[in-house]
Amino acid sequence: MDVCVIGAGYVGLVTGACLAYLGNKVIVVDVNVARINELKQGKIPFFEPGLAQLVESTTNSHSLEFTENLAPAVKKSKVIFIAVGTPSLAGGEPDLSQVTAVASEIGSALDTTHKRVVVNKSTVPVGSGNWVEMLINQGMTSKKEHKSLAVVASRMSEKLEGEELPIFSVVSNPEFLREGSAIADSLYPDRIVIGSSDDFAISLMKELYQPILKQSFKAPSFLQGQPETTYSERNGNSAESIKIPFVITDLTSAELIKYAANAFLALKISFANEMAGLCEKAGADIREVVKGIGLDKRIGQYFLNAGIGWGGSCFGKDVRALIESAKEYNYPMPLLESTIAVNERQRKVLIGKLQEELKILKGRTIGLMGLSFKPNTDDLRDAPSLTIANHLIKMGAFVKAYDPVSNGVCAEQQPELNLTYCKDLIELAKNCDALLLVTEWDEFKQANWQEIAKVMRSPLIIDGRNVLSEKDLLLAGITYRGIGH
Ligand SMILES: NC(=O)c1ccc[n+]([C@@H]2O[C@H](COP(=O)([O-])OP(=O)(O)OC[C@H]3O[C@@H](n4cnc5c(N)ncnc54)[C@H](O)[C@@H]3O)[C@@H](O)[C@H]2O)c1
Repeated sequence: MDVCVIGAGYVGLVTGACLAYLGNKVIVVDVNVARINELKQGKIPFFEPGLAQLVESTTNSHSLEFTENLAPAVKKSKVIFIAVGTPSLAGGEPDLSQVTAVASEIGSALDTTHKRVVVNKSTVPVGSGNWVEMLINQGMTSKKEHKSLAVVASRMSEKLEGEELPIFSVVSNPEFLREGSAIADSLYPDRIVIGSSDDFAISLMKELYQPILKQSFKAPSFLQGQPETTYSERNGNSAESIKIPFVITDLTSAELIKYAANAFLALKISFANEMAGLCEKAGADIREVVKGIGLDKRIGQYFLNAGIGWGGSCFGKDVRALIESAKEYNYPMPLLESTIAVNERQRKVLIGKLQEELKILKGRTIGLMGLSFKPNTDDLRDAPSLTIANHLIKMGAFVKAYDPVSNGVCAEQQPELNLTYCKDLIELAKNCDALLLVTEWDEFKQANWQEIAKVMRSPLIIDGRNVLSEKDLLLAGITYRGIGH
């Protein structure tokens, strides 16, 4: 099937490459010409495991192409994905300017050769499906007006009177991929959600996703060795019993499913963090508490890890956007307000623990283990590391950092942040009064603590993700502090 994906970010590029891998002819469009040129040369603009190999194999087989020209790509395609960014504005409401621009451009590019399905994959507030449809219609009208002026000038305007308009249908297809495991999440999803009441659009989307729904494709070899990269590994059942739910619902419900999913996941983490604070006061261990409650199937074990809280490009932005959407209906959402408040408090927990151990932070050297908001990505959007680093620097500490992939990205994106970047853990630990584990990269779990203890000024590690072995650290003579225990 001819598919166009607009936006070559985390979602657009992964979606485009996966659909190409499944046998479609995909054109990925982006306004960022430098990004498109780099992609044409095989350079991936961000770190995502396996993506370089997937893009290379699909471009080599001519299933995947890149362009900055939206109109020809839209004209050629049956399905057009909108996968542009929807970042937060200062007040918490989403900035929909990228979606607005794309919808209008799609409108002016559409022709009458065939019916198209326009798919909202960007996370957008309730009602955006109808709004995108309006913008596409306006885009078509402005083109028609533009055309008619030209044609009137050449006395042919009467031909436009009965002009046939392009036919299209807008559907919502929210994206649930996680950075760091985006390809496996796309090929082996827990569910595919389609919001539409148009039978043509629903059956086209089903046809497009058929290889995933049936799991009839060959598993990409480059994912082997990464955890949970086959359907059976992820779902614990055999390939014969595969049944990926294809959820067909109305547009508005699909839009809300995305926000509700992220809000619930953020809430689960904030709940674990709030309980962690009480565990510390009462002398309990949050790791035991979440194990005990997670075994209850109604609760489940995932997303209950206490730590320094959630970050990234989606949770904070989407929870805020949901609260702001609800305000339009004069409907307060106190549970979600608290989810954010608990998370903000949690980011500063490490500072409090540092003060308990070191008393004075002014003039201290503190090392941050990790910068990206989670492992296996170099994404720094709303990363807790930035909040912690800014806070420590403001308090007069000298802050060093080492991240296996994000040092360069951080230096480029945060030129004002006075961080000293280190090439490895040993360089980071040298002369530090304390190390803070901020991102749970595997490399940190397997560190040589004896060597690290030798070079630190005072051997203190605060584990912001509860992933280190307290026993190993104590054996190396390092004081260990975790969260909630
Ligand atoms: N990143 C995630 O993990 C994730 C997961 C699920 C859903 N989402 C949602 O998906 C959407 C995209 O997120 P992302 O992280 O991929 O964003 P991103 O910022 O990484 O990428 C967006 C891309 O769109 C391009 N773009 C902007 N305006 C354009 C235009 N007019 N025409 C063509 N291209 C244009 C940008 O240049 C950029 O490359 C957001 O709504 C986000 O909330 C993201």
